[in-house]
Amino acid sequence: MSISARENIQNLRAYETPQIKARIKLNSNESPWPLPDKIIEDIERAVAVVEFNRYPDASSRILREEVSRWLRVGLDNVLVGSGSNEMIQCVFLAFGGKGRTLMTFVPTYSMASKIAAITDTEEISVPLKEDFSPDIRKIVKQLEQVTPHIIYMCNPNNPTGTLFRRSFIMKLLEMTETLVVVDEAYGEFCPTSVIDLTNRHANLAVVKTFSKALRLAGARVGVLVASEPIVKEVQKVKLPYNLNILSQTIATIVLRNRTLLWPAIKEIVEERERVRRELEKIEGVVAVPSQTNFILFKTPFEGNTIYEELLRRDVLIRNFSNYPYLKGYLRVTIGTKEENQEFLAALKDVLDNRMWASRL
Ligand SMILES: Cc1ncc(COP(=O)(O)O)c(C=O)c1O
Repeated sequence: MSISARENIQNLRAYETPQIKARIKLNSNESPWPLPDKIIEDIERAVAVVEFNRYPDASSRILREEVSRWLRVGLDNVLVGSGSNEMIQCVFLAFGGKGRTLMTFVPTYSMASKIAAITDTEEISVPLKEDFSPDIRKIVKQLEQVTPHIIYMCNPNNPTGTLFRRSFIMKLLEMTETLVVVDEAYGEFCPTSVIDLTNRHANLAVVKTFSKALRLAGARVGVLVASEPIVKEVQKVKLPYNLNILSQTIATIVLRNRTLLWPAIKEIVEERERVRRELEKIEGVVAVPSQTNFILFKTPFEGNTIYEELLRRDVLIRNFSNYPYLKGYLRVTIGTKEENQEFLAALKDVLDNRMWASRL
C-alpha cells in the first residue's frame, strides 16, 4: 500500500506567505509599533522566572481570567489558543467535517475556506454585493434551501474593511439555529462588536486575535468567546497545552496594560481616514471605506503591475487583484504616519508614470 493523504488534503496547496523583504511593510495588517517599554520590562521580569521545564497551565486560566475581564464575559465562556486561526480550526473540528456545510459571505478571510477544506467541510459561499455589503435576499434564499452547520463571517471584514450591521448578525442568529462564528480580528478599530450577544445567543461564537491592535502577532494568541455548550465541545478537540507558557505570560501582561495601547489604536483610525482621503484625491483611485487597520483600493491600472512597481520602490502591500470578486484590488495596511506618507508618495509616482505611459 502506498501512503496517501485524504483526498481533500491531496487537492490542497500548502499555505505559503512569501517572505518578501521591503523597507515599508504594509501587507499583513500587523501593528507598526513594538510594545511600549513598560510592557517589555514587565515581560522581561516575568520571563526570567518562567519554569521552562514544566508544562504550562493547560487551561490557560490566568490569561482567560484577564480576557474575561477585558471582554466582560464569563470565564467559562472563554477559550484561548495559538492565534485565532487555531480557534477557528477547533470550531471546524468540532462542528464541521464530512457531510457538514459552511456558509461564507465572499470575498472574506481565506483561512475559513482553507480550514473548511482541511476538515472536509463543504463550503457554500454567497457573494457580497458590489459595495461589499451583504446580499440579504440571496442569503435568506440560500438559508431556505440549506441549513449550514457553520456560518462564518469576518466583521469588520478582511480584505474589504467593511462592517456588517449588528442588526444583520442578530437577524441571522434569530433566523437559524446554525452556529454563527463572527471573527472580530479587527474589532478594536471599529465601534461595534457582538461579544455581548454571546450570553443571549447559544449559537454565537466570537473569535478575536492578539495579532493586530494588541501588537502580538509574533506570540500567536487568539480567543474564542461562546456559550458554555459551544465551549465544551470545542474543548474536546483542542490539544492539551495548546498555548505555550511564554505566550500565556506575555498575553496576560499585555492585557493588564492594555490602556497603554489605546492611544495608538486611535492614531491608526485617524491615519486610516487620512490615507483614504488622500487615496480618493488621486485621479481614478477608488478606496473602500474601512473600519479596520487597512484599506482595500483599486487604480485604473492592472493590479499586478501596480503591486510590482510599488515593491520596486520598497513598498510591500497585499495583492488581491487575482482573487475572485476582487479583480484589480490591492490592500494596504495602515502603518506609522511616515510609512503611510511613503506609500502614498510611491503610489502617486507609480500612477503618474503609468498615466504618462498610457498617453504616449
Ligand atoms: C480576519 C482574520 N482572522 C484571523 C486572522 C489570524 O489571526 P491570528 O494571527 O490570531 O491567527 C487574521 C490574520 O490576518 C485575520 O485577518
